Amino acid sequence: MTSRKEHWENIYKTKDHKKVSWYQESPEISLELLSKIHADSSQSIIDVGCGASVLADKLIEQGYRDITLVDLSEEALSTIKDRLGNEGNIPSYLSQDITKATFINTFDIWHDRAVFHFLTDLKDRKDYMLTLSKSLSNNGRAIIGTFSINGPNACSGLDIVQYDEEKMKSELSSGLQLVDSVISLHNMPSGAKQEFMYFIIEHKDT
Ligand SMILES: C[S@@+](CC[C@H](N)C(=O)[O-])C[C@H]1O[C@@H](n2cnc3c(N)ncnc32)[C@H](O)[C@@H]1O
Repeated sequence: MTSRKEHWENIYKTKDHKKVSWYQESPEISLELLSKIHADSSQSIIDVGCGASVLADKLIEQGYRDITLVDLSEEALSTIKDRLGNEGNIPSYLSQDITKATFINTFDIWHDRAVFHFLTDLKDRKDYMLTLSKSLSNNGRAIIGTFSINGPNACSGLDIVQYDEEKMKSELSSGLQLVDSVISLHNMPSGAKQEFMYFIIEHKDT
């Protein structure tokens, strides 16, 4: 059986990352939500399952310097590093499975677009939420984008879990609180649309 890492490594090695269904020329909704939570470029931010997303490029443009990029795929991380050129040394790159990751530092902002929804096993979701609550600073915010209950039920050949507010609330571990949610339509390179729901989650030390 193909492991999770092999699956994603194979995607980025064999496909043009600008043609995959989740490709965005610009991560507008993420930038809007960062602005909505009053994120500041002096804050630390982690993009979980960043893939080859240009979010890091935009954050650097906005003055962020404490950026951590995590993805299972080394190929995806290299795509970002190569694209950033001289600024490629600004982010920290970690090729890790987020359900098994541990971080030395905490982060002010946690961003995840289309990663948590791949966790179909309860244990993986519990591990993810535990890592999130341990890794987010007190009053830190997480922005988690998943397919909504009107969205697709699979992506990249893998089953996903769709979320609405109630379902997301039921996943949150102690100290994490859902504060807002937003529906957003993603225009795929094919021209079709996918409905996402983005959740803003706050961490309060218990
Ligand atoms: C649908 S893509 C989204 C990529 C990116 N967030 C974006 O918006 O363009 C999902 C990404 O999550 C990564 N991924 C999937 N499961 C993961 C896990 N358990 N830990 C870390 N990364 C993971 C994949 O390698 C892939 O890059």
